[in-house]
Amino acid sequence: MNLRGRNFLKLLDYTPEEIVYLLDLAADFKAKKKKGELTEYFRGKNVALIFEKTSTRTRCAFEVAARDLGMGTTYLDPAGSQIGKKESIADTARVLGRMYEGIEYRGFGQEIVEELAEYAGVPVWNGLTNEFHPTQMLADLLTIREHFGYLKGIRLTYMGDARFNMGNSLMAACAKMGMHFTACTTPEFFPAKELVEECRKIAEETGGSVTLEEDPMKGTKGADVVYTDVWVSMGEPDEAWSARIKALAPYQVNRAIMENAGEKAVFMHCLPAFHDLNTKVGKEQGEKFGFTELEVTNEVFESPVSIVFDEAENRMHTIKAVMAATLGIEDI
Ligand code: CP
Ligand code: NVA
Repeated sequence: MNLRGRNFLKLLDYTPEEIVYLLDLAADFKAKKKKGELTEYFRGKNVALIFEKTSTRTRCAFEVAARDLGMGTTYLDPAGSQIGKKESIADTARVLGRMYEGIEYRGFGQEIVEELAEYAGVPVWNGLTNEFHPTQMLADLLTIREHFGYLKGIRLTYMGDARFNMGNSLMAACAKMGMHFTACTTPEFFPAKELVEECRKIAEETGGSVTLEEDPMKGTKGADVVYTDVWVSMGEPDEAWSARIKALAPYQVNRAIMENAGEKAVFMHCLPAFHDLNTKVGKEQGEKFGFTELEVTNEVFESPVSIVFDEAENRMHTIKAVMAATLGIEDI
C-alpha cells in the first residue's frame, strides 16, 4: 500500500483496504509513542495548518503529530491570513504548495478543501468542513476497533443532527467498514438522500447497512456504539439553538438510551460536548431553555461506558498516520 501524494478529503475517496492500512499505521505509531520511540521520518519538511474555524483536538493533533514526525508547522488562524478575504483559495493553494509539503484545512464548504487540493500540488488534509470530518473518522474507527477488537458488524447509532459533518462522515465510515449505521433523529435531520443512497450501495458490498429511524428506542435498540455531537455546529447562527433544542431533545443520550442499547454498548462523541453547564455556550443555552445538559447527560458522559477521551487521544495517532502515509512513509 502506498498512499504517497494522495489527498485526504473524505473517507468516500478511500477503499476499505486503504482505511485499514491507515488504522494499522496509526496503531503502530501509537505503540511507538507509548514506548518513547522516535518517529522523525520527515525531518526538514513543513506543513501548513489552516483553521477558518476554531479547534482544540484537531489543531493540537496536527501540531503534535507533525512534531513527532520531525516536521515544522505554521498555524494560520481564522483571522490572521489573507485567505478568502484578499486572496482566493486557488492562489493560496499555489503559494502554500511552494513552501510546504502538506496543507491541512478546516473551514466551511467541502468545495473549498477540494479546490485547495486541486491547486496545491501537495497533499491536502481535511480537518473538518461543513460536510465531512474524515480525520475524526479514523480516530473513531481506531477507538472502536481497540475496544471491540473488530469493526465489521458493529452497530453504530448516531443521535442528533445527521445532515452535517459528523452524521455524513459516520454513515460513510460505517458503510466502508461493513458496519451497521443508524441515523436516529427526526426526518428533517436525516442525511441527504443522494449520500444515503451512495452509502447504501457501498454497504451492500461490505456487508454493512444504513438505516434511518425516527424512534429513539427503536434506533438505539441493541446498538454497540451510541454516538452524538453538538446540536448546533460551528458556523451556524445562535438563532439555530431554539428550534434545534426543541427538535433534538428526544434524542439526548441519557441513561434510558444507554440501557436500551446493547449490553456492552459504549458512548462516543467527537467533542467538544455540552454535558453540563461548565462552558460559556452550554451555560447560556442551557439556562435560556431550562436544560442542565444538552446532547448527552453528564451521567452518561462521565460513566465507564464513555470512551470519549480514548477517542480524542486517537485523533493524534491517526492524523500522524494520514500525514506519514500521504507524504510517503512507504518510500522511506
Ligand atoms: N473533534 C474535533 O474536531 O475537535 P476540535 O473542534 O477541538 O478540533
Ligand atoms: N458538528 C461539529 C463537529 C465538531 C468537531 C461542528 O461542526 O461544529
